[in-house]
Amino acid sequence: MLVWTLVATLLLSVSAQTPQTTKGKTITCFCDKCANLECVSDGYCYTSTRIDKETKQIEHDFRCFDKIAHFPPENPAWCKENAHLNPESLLRSAAVACCDNENYCNKALRPQIASMPPQFASMRPQDEKIGDDLSTDTSLIIFVGTTVLVVLLLVLLVIYCGWTRNHKWKKQRPGALFKSNDSMDPQDQQPILGVNNTLRDIIDMTTSGSGSGLPLLVQRSIARQIQLVEIIGKGRFGEVWRGRWRGENVAVKIFSSREERSWFREAEIYQTVMLRHDNILGFIAADNKDNGTWTQLWLVTDFHENGSLFDYLSTRTVDIVGMIRMALSISTGLAHLHMEIVGTQAGKPAIAHRDLKSKNILVKLNGTCAIGDLGLAVHYDDVDGKIDLATNSRVGTKRYMAPEVLDESICENHFDSFKRADVYALGLIFWEITRRCNVGGIYDEYQLPYYDLVPSDPTIEEMRKTVCEGRHRPSIPNRWQSIDALNAMSKVMKECWYHNAAARLTALRIKKTLANLGASEDIKPPQ
Ligand code: ADE
Repeated sequence: MLVWTLVATLLLSVSAQTPQTTKGKTITCFCDKCANLECVSDGYCYTSTRIDKETKQIEHDFRCFDKIAHFPPENPAWCKENAHLNPESLLRSAAVACCDNENYCNKALRPQIASMPPQFASMRPQDEKIGDDLSTDTSLIIFVGTTVLVVLLLVLLVIYCGWTRNHKWKKQRPGALFKSNDSMDPQDQQPILGVNNTLRDIIDMTTSGSGSGLPLLVQRSIARQIQLVEIIGKGRFGEVWRGRWRGENVAVKIFSSREERSWFREAEIYQTVMLRHDNILGFIAADNKDNGTWTQLWLVTDFHENGSLFDYLSTRTVDIVGMIRMALSISTGLAHLHMEIVGTQAGKPAIAHRDLKSKNILVKLNGTCAIGDLGLAVHYDDVDGKIDLATNSRVGTKRYMAPEVLDESICENHFDSFKRADVYALGLIFWEITRRCNVGGIYDEYQLPYYDLVPSDPTIEEMRKTVCEGRHRPSIPNRWQSIDALNAMSKVMKECWYHNAAARLTALRIKKTLANLGASEDIKPPQ
């Protein structure tokens, strides 16, 4: 209606000034502002009634209303105009009446404004004045034009805001990580990646609360500023490098193109809500970069200069406090991984690692550990009760496979089965640590579990025969029995590697037991 009025008004002002003759039927109208007091129209004659803003008098305008100005063409809205009268804005109030029955038919028309303010309600026709200029038309055009313009601008603004918000959201969805063409506009990252911010600052700034990872563009930005320094490991997935980002060490796991699924999986798991934890390897960034020939798949994590637990134990020993600190931190990490956290805003699914071993655990400078290599992890979705991978049950490292994995009796529909298989592997890791516990200068050499029963790189069949058929477990040295802490550790590990998976301790139980053992050994919290 507002737009119609604007269009009609604009056209009316033109037609009132330039009466037209057409080839069709025409009518001569009374025109109060025309030189000879008449105009010729191919449409209607009209009279409009208004109240003059200055004089507060009722005034009438008599004009032609040419077809070109009819809107809609068959039934012009203008002819029905009878605005509700707002006493505060008298100028806007008008009533219009049109006619085409005879020449000068509009001369007798006196359209009444629908609701007159009290001061005009009693006004008689002789008080009324006939308009003689175009000032009302002009003001009306300006007013209506401005209103329409403001409304249009508002609508455009709302549409624009909605579009930009939606656009941003799409870029930040996890899936968007894996598109190569994301904007690298430095504006997007500058506040977070300010020159003085360390990785710790950036992570604290952007992940407080959910602990679910940096924004994807920030991840990509960081990854692309890393210089690779030296190779520190190789595995079935690819290579691990030490890299530098603005003077800080980072670990960069570079996956071969064949291992895209592992890269995707590990990045996805690390970015699970609330996974950030002191005893889970700190995730920094994932990036996929197409160099024209192949796609480089990077996973950037915290760098720990002590390397893996396997590296550490191969060359160093620990004291009783160090042993318990390590074991407690690993079980704390595993308990966190296994635990489902239910929350309205953010929650964490239960996650099973499925490839726990000393090579997949990093030793921090304070002697505690962080669990890494989450590429085979599965999580349990308690909404649909499904485990999220169509899995081959026999994955992971053969030496650390639980008996039920080796003989394929594991119940894959039951999520606890995966947790129990993790606990079996945890028991073997405790055995590796405890052997290296130096008490009074006595300790055992570093060995992998079952080093004395299977060859290096054993087959599944060799492992199955040893672990399932022979029911063998790593041997407990005699010296452990006479030292309380070692004896306590041997009790825990035996309860981790029961053949009956349901009888094994849970990670949470182990954590509590070791915390008590630590308290009795007077372990201070790590600095
Ligand atoms: N080897 C494998 N991952 C590592 C890491 N994050 N830090 C140090 N050495 C590693």
